[in-house]
Amino acid sequence: MILQLITSFVIITCVDGEYPLPVAEISGNHYRDQVRKLQAFKASFVQHDSASLPPSPSSPPASAPSPSVTPKPRVYDVTSYEADPTGKTDSTEAILRAISDAAQGLGGAVLMEGIVNLGGARVNLEGGSYLISRPLRLPVAGRGNFVIYGGTLKASDDFPPDGYLIDLSASSSQGGAYNYEYVTLRDLMLDSCYRGGGIQVVNSLRTSIDNCYIAHFATNGILVHGGHETYIRNSFLGQHITAGSDHGERNFSGTGINLMGNDNAVTDVVIFSAAIGIMISGQANTLSGVHCYNKATGFGGTGIYLKLPGLTQTRIVNSYLDYTGIVAEDPVQLHISSSFFLGDAYIILKSINGVANGVNIVNNMFSGSDKGIEIVQLDQRNKPFTKIDQVVVDGNNVKGMNVKATVAKGTVEGNGTSWSVDLGHILLFPNLIKNVQYSLRTRGSAFPSHALRNVSNNRVVIESNVAVPATVSVIADQGL
Ligand SMILES: *[C@@H]1O[C@H](CO)[C@@H](O)[C@H](O)[C@H]1NC(C)=O
Ligand SMILES: *[C@@H]1O[C@H](CO)[C@@H](O)[C@H](O)[C@H]1NC(C)=O
Ligand SMILES: *[C@@H]1O[C@H](CO)[C@@H](O)[C@H](O)[C@H]1NC(C)=O
Repeated sequence: MILQLITSFVIITCVDGEYPLPVAEISGNHYRDQVRKLQAFKASFVQHDSASLPPSPSSPPASAPSPSVTPKPRVYDVTSYEADPTGKTDSTEAILRAISDAAQGLGGAVLMEGIVNLGGARVNLEGGSYLISRPLRLPVAGRGNFVIYGGTLKASDDFPPDGYLIDLSASSSQGGAYNYEYVTLRDLMLDSCYRGGGIQVVNSLRTSIDNCYIAHFATNGILVHGGHETYIRNSFLGQHITAGSDHGERNFSGTGINLMGNDNAVTDVVIFSAAIGIMISGQANTLSGVHCYNKATGFGGTGIYLKLPGLTQTRIVNSYLDYTGIVAEDPVQLHISSSFFLGDAYIILKSINGVANGVNIVNNMFSGSDKGIEIVQLDQRNKPFTKIDQVVVDGNNVKGMNVKATVAKGTVEGNGTSWSVDLGHILLFPNLIKNVQYSLRTRGSAFPSHALRNVSNNRVVIESNVAVPATVSVIADQGL
């Protein structure tokens, strides 16, 4: 028996590369010493082993000093609150209890005044899918530094049509300067079941929405209202789960992301179905790496709608507008560059009060199907654009669509006293030329006087005092 034990220890401890002597050498006192050492070793081994098991309050290891306080991890597993991860029964109350426990703050002064720091508390959806019948909203506002992650939330058939599955708002009685700060919502699938929306963030700071898939919203996939710095990253939003060429595309409604606040960022996000991909009505938002194929322009869809006439302050870079375009009302400080417009997608500048100021639409690629669609268009149904300053549409490359720009070049040859270069097919604004440069090159022996005579209707007219054969080249600019 002992020998068997010894033998088994030889095997085990060989793994550890320590101890003992070969069995053959065990004899006499030496033998008892060895057995004692082995027993001590065995005890340490067992102890070591049990330390890796979950602590069991009823039988603590005899020789281990029990810690006076066992810190409780601040991870709130929703199934511990009897949420049903199969999605069969309503888990609203259970998840709200988990959220409510997570919201019992530690305190601490590192967040904004009035925001209790929850120290990184996490509500863990544990990879389950949960049925939700009313918005998940914290019982109290004024909380920060917490995470909800890792599972699916699905609206029930009686979910309120104006609700959001996750609702970072506060009831009217809880009016702090900001509702929440540094809340992270990640790795979530939100299915609004065509009732209400996915996530609402109201009057909050530094919110992260990361790696979320938000579908079946009737209103907005994500609504950001007030506050600032909601960062929406690496996420996918679609009213209908489709991958393009959907038979029902004509009927897509709702908005993927609605930013009614300032200083937010949407980066590396796809909106694959919705009437409007991203609606922006707050300043200083930035979009980068956004792919919109939410609803084709031909069906009445819009990829990105900038509804901030008079003060736009929006940057759209490195994005992909796929059969759906951009609409900007009275743009004032708008930058669109390094983006790709496919399938005759184009940009509309829509006049509200006739203002377009500080607009750069530069260095993009446009691709269409030779239908003569212009890459940038004006909607002047309300009013013509009259206050136009620093608008630069230039340097875009275009295939199968018509170029529009605020800078145009042209060359004509003639033998006479007048040269006329019509730039109307390129220049964006009708009847607007602010600056012209031209050269007149004559092969004849005469040395004529010549001058710029007329720029009406985007037609540049150069005249000379005597008839000469000449080539006239013109660069006209609407932006300076
Ligand atoms: C779109 O909506 C119209 C009107 O509600 C309906 O008649 C039509 O069947 C719908 N089309 C599709 C493809 O769902
Ligand atoms: C230009 O026109 C004049 C008179 O009409 C003519 O004599 C001359 O040959 C022309 N020059 C060229 C290069 O066509
Ligand atoms: C400039 O040309 C337009 C026609 O394009 C004409 O109506 C206008 O009178 C011209 N202006 C001058 C100063 O010649």
